[in-house]
Amino acid sequence: MDIQIVEIPNVKNANGNIGIIENDVVPFDIKRVYYLYDVPSSAKRGGHAHKNLQQLLVPLSGSFDVVLKDGLDEVTVTLNKPDKGLFINSNTWRELENFSSGAVCMVIASQEYTEEDYIRDYDQFLEYIKTNK
Ligand code: TYD
Repeated sequence: MDIQIVEIPNVKNANGNIGIIENDVVPFDIKRVYYLYDVPSSAKRGGHAHKNLQQLLVPLSGSFDVVLKDGLDEVTVTLNKPDKGLFINSNTWRELENFSSGAVCMVIASQEYTEEDYIRDYDQFLEYIKTNK
C-alpha cells in the first residue's frame, strides 16, 4: 500500500502545542489545503482514487478511519493524533468513515482541484491501475 504515517514537526510546551507543516514534510510541492468538518458520524467520505494527486491527511481534531485499497490489499488507518498525518500516494482508493464528533480532517494536496484527476468508480479504478502500473 503506497501510504506512510508522517510525523508532523511540532513545538510542545505546557501552554499548548504547534504543529508545523512546511514543504519538506511532504514529498510534493504543496498546492492546496482543504479540510473536512461537521461530518456526521454516519457519513462516508472519499470513495475515490486520484490519478496524480498526492495528499497528506492530518486529523486536526477528533478521529476518523481511513480505509485504503490498492487492488490487492485493504488497510484501515485510524487518525487521531494531530502530530501524525497519513500520506496517500496517487492510485490509492480511499474511504473516510467513523468521524468522531467535532473531527476535522485537514488535507494538504499536491495539485489544485480538478475533477479529471478523480476515479470515482471502483471497477474503473481496478482497470486503471492494471493499465497504469
Ligand atoms: P470530494 O473530493 O469528492 O469529497 P470527499 O472525498 O471528501 O468525499 O469533493 C466533494 C465535492 O466538493 C465535489 O463536488 C468536488 C468539490 N470540491 C471542490 O470543488 N474543490 C476541492 O478542493 C475539493 C476537495 C472538493
